[in-house]
Amino acid sequence: MGIVRQLRQISADDSGVDPAFRADVHAGLAQRQKAIPARWFYDATGSALFEDITALPEYYPTRSETDLLTRHAADMAAAIGPGRAVVELGSGSSTKTPLLLQAIGPAAYVPVDISGDFLRDSATALAARFPGLPVYPVEADFTHKVDLPREIAERPKLGFFPGSTIGNMVARTAIDLLRGWRATLGDGALLLIGVDRIKDIATLERAYDDPAGVTAAFNLNLLERINRELGGTIPVDNFTHRAVWNDVHARIEMHLVAACDMEFTVDGRAYAMAKGETIHSENSHKYGPRDANLLLRAGGWTPVRTWDDADPAFALILAAATEFRSAP
Ligand code: AVJ
Repeated sequence: MGIVRQLRQISADDSGVDPAFRADVHAGLAQRQKAIPARWFYDATGSALFEDITALPEYYPTRSETDLLTRHAADMAAAIGPGRAVVELGSGSSTKTPLLLQAIGPAAYVPVDISGDFLRDSATALAARFPGLPVYPVEADFTHKVDLPREIAERPKLGFFPGSTIGNMVARTAIDLLRGWRATLGDGALLLIGVDRIKDIATLERAYDDPAGVTAAFNLNLLERINRELGGTIPVDNFTHRAVWNDVHARIEMHLVAACDMEFTVDGRAYAMAKGETIHSENSHKYGPRDANLLLRAGGWTPVRTWDDADPAFALILAAATEFRSAP
């Protein structure tokens, strides 16, 4: 079957830049606490740097999740069953996906990713590994409404949302996303979602501030991207990477810290930062077992099975689309 075609649900202005990126950067830099949504990390360079992160000894989530998919493949296959259309949110390089597809025997595979070139390459590699499987890549921001390919309309769906990417969203946005995908995937759908657990702070902070500096490069690439795509004059060398645990919000925060007072422009618009001021570039929320279950239920998904990896703690949760009916 191979790749059927790549659908594109992302817009670009005359210079090939996503207008949403431009808008988010200006809105974010104008705030008192400057902040830019983490989704903008993933241009081609950022997507490749994230792949490097997943190979770091300190970055345990990818390893833990891969272990879970390997060890419990048969169990997951029994719980999920064959013949579903697997819709993967934020598929990236899709390295974990073959483990799942191999185990369950799906009817189709729909990788959804914001990085179009990256998506094309990984979908091509995956289609080559599963010659009989129809692959329908969709270039889209999965935090917005995504139109699924018509060909899978009648298939029961499995949403696959690995990597703890749900952790990038604050609770309200995470619930909006889960509710949105509950509607998109429909009655009878299942969701297999990766959730990173709360654990000792040192392990968490090391995972987001590795000694080799790969995560720092990933974070700083956001500024390079602004310079590249939006004609920015940000002095990237004057920023440092910071990753800290915020206990109230149960999340790792990444910031870009100004090492000195500075002025720069983006799109010709002037911005100033004082030494020590930061641009908040990512949240990575962590969830205990009951936190995760509450989040899913609030989003219209009923948890049915949890596979936990102990060291360091990470979970894959299988949830079923909650039926709409009156409840006491
Ligand atoms: C891809 C969102 C799951 O939050 O752990 C890794 C991104 N950021 N190191 C995460 C990330 C810094 C990652 N997710």
